[in-house]
Amino acid sequence: MKPWHPEHARDDGPTDNGHGIAVDDLRLIRDQFVDFMLGYKFAIDEVTTKINILREDFNNTHEYNPIEHVGSRLKSPESVLEKVRRKNYAMNLTSIRENVLDIAGVRVVCSFISDIATIKQMLASQADITVLEERDYITHRKPNGYQSLHLIVSIPVFRSDRTERIPVEIQIRTIAMDFWASLEHKIYYKYRGEVPPNLRSDLAQAAEVATQLDEQMEALHRQVDRGPQPSRRRADSLDLGVLYRSLTADHPVQLRPGDLPL
Ligand code: GTP
Ligand code: MG
Repeated sequence: MKPWHPEHARDDGPTDNGHGIAVDDLRLIRDQFVDFMLGYKFAIDEVTTKINILREDFNNTHEYNPIEHVGSRLKSPESVLEKVRRKNYAMNLTSIRENVLDIAGVRVVCSFISDIATIKQMLASQADITVLEERDYITHRKPNGYQSLHLIVSIPVFRSDRTERIPVEIQIRTIAMDFWASLEHKIYYKYRGEVPPNLRSDLAQAAEVATQLDEQMEALHRQVDRGPQPSRRRADSLDLGVLYRSLTADHPVQLRPGDLPL
């Protein structure tokens, strides 16, 4: 048998990367991990589509739209593996699927506190969504002032050769809560987690002011008469002949701006 030597290894093809792992094996592991992460990207796409559908449907059916902004982020491979190491989870895909539930993150920012429950309900009641976990940091505000509703849901992703159920972390919060959280995040990073006491108490006070603003806005919102909501109950039996005749008449009926072109 030939004695092992780096040169020989190279002669036989790419078999070592300096860590005693064959390059082909490393490539296989990397490809599997990329494929695993892709499932989370698809899950984000699905949840984002669901939220955009709700938003568009609200715009069409109601007088106002509770969804102000939707954002998402996919955790980087490095931070996924860093979290696995930090939390001492087993370094394999099954363990990551079960334990790291925030690889796919979607944030929904809404106008009023009451919208948070509405949006949660609309997502949770969808047949393909399962709520695995709920953390209500609004009823139980974090000591630093952080407020948000966190849901961990799982959603099926239909891949070319299999179906995967992927967990997604959905954060739902108001504009004021979001404003506070993004500033706190910047401050936290600037001080690398060691926020000076005066800033900490200013942040806690700002969180209190944000809550007061949310409550005032909610009260104002309630006072505004939104009038009767259009009902879809009779929609199936409506006589569309009336609509057809008016659309094909010499002077077609004017649809509301933004309506779908018919
Ligand atoms: P991680 O292990 O960091 O994921 O925390 P966790 O599993 O205990 O979940 P938690 O619900 O505490 O936080 C999840 C996410 O919520 C974070 O990644 C942030 O996006 C957000 N979050 C939680 N706490 C805070 C906070 O105090 N300030 C800000 N700005 N964001 C927060
Ligand atoms: Mg997290």
